[in-house]
Amino acid sequence: MKPSEIVAGLDRQVVGQDDAKRILAVAVYAHWRKAEMAAADGLDMLKSNVLLIGPTGSGKTLLCETLARVLAVPFVTADATSLAQSEFVNDELDAVLQRLIDRAGGDPAAAGRGIVFIDEVDKLKAISGQARAAAGEHVQHALLKIMEGATVRLKGGATLDTAQILFICGGAFVGLESILAETQAFGFIAANADDDQKVLDRLNARVKPTDLFRFGLIPEFAGRLPIVARLDQLTRDQLVRIMIEPGNALYRQYRALLANEGVELVIEPAVFGQIADLALEYKVGARSLRGIFEEMLTPVLYAVPDRQDLTKVTLRSLFEPAVFG
Ligand SMILES: Nc1ncnc2c1ncn2[C@@H]1O[C@H](COP(=O)(O)OP(=O)(O)OP(=O)(O)O)[C@@H](O)[C@H]1O
Ligand SMILES: [Mg+2]
Repeated sequence: MKPSEIVAGLDRQVVGQDDAKRILAVAVYAHWRKAEMAAADGLDMLKSNVLLIGPTGSGKTLLCETLARVLAVPFVTADATSLAQSEFVNDELDAVLQRLIDRAGGDPAAAGRGIVFIDEVDKLKAISGQARAAAGEHVQHALLKIMEGATVRLKGGATLDTAQILFICGGAFVGLESILAETQAFGFIAANADDDQKVLDRLNARVKPTDLFRFGLIPEFAGRLPIVARLDQLTRDQLVRIMIEPGNALYRQYRALLANEGVELVIEPAVFGQIADLALEYKVGARSLRGIFEEMLTPVLYAVPDRQDLTKVTLRSLFEPAVFG
């Protein structure tokens, strides 16, 4: 698969985030080509692991889940928070690698060229003097070992060399902005808010391992994530598109649900804008859309089964009752 084909596949589910999509697609493509070349002529090539950073509800997890579906290479995901809560981190990591082998049809060699996505790595940050943070650091060390390449003997009996496995890590990294501003912002004078945003964008684009270190990741771990892809805060427009466009968009889902009862659901464009405005206020990205949507439709979903004569339900405003017809 070429990078453009990977991006096209991602575009079907994930709205916006074009930069992150491209960076991810190129990383995966390059990884796959390197693995192919290594298999052909035995050259060991360095992989470049990827770090996805972006605000909550902006599509990090969705992006990786979609990538897994789009790609033809073995792919597993793991959650750093649950790794940190486990008493036996290495056992948990073994299980992750075992799943990778399963995805590769039981072939450790194929699994050795697969991709592992580790979500919520920002939760592994060290806060001095906290027990939970110590666990996080412990997980970072455990991850480090498999990220830089180790031969792991799994409980199932298989042996897996992790040197060529691509690792993609994701996290919201709340507080990183201010670290970036501190370490890079001197010398800029912003004339207006628009300039401010531009300066911020430029800074955001360059996250260095030292910034991640200051955030609380151990230097060796941060250093093994040379490629950083940023996801942006979703705009009002993008929130509207998320409700309408993707294959499993909320609007499609509820239209299908009501069509199944013989009723056509029509939501007028203004309503999507109102929902997006509320979602922006909640500040959890696209995550709040579903809740608002369901609340809005509850009266409709309640009434429809009792009304055999209904053929159409129209919503004109989030703040007015639905029109039954
Ligand atoms: N760019 C997007 N395109 C389409 N849907 C999106 C997008 N971003 C978020 N969503 C929707 O919001 C939900 C939450 O997104 P996701 O889990 O990817 O957020 P996240 O960035 O991983 O946040 P967190 O940092 O809290 O884990 C998704 O299930 C999806 O329905
Ligand atoms: Mg997530």
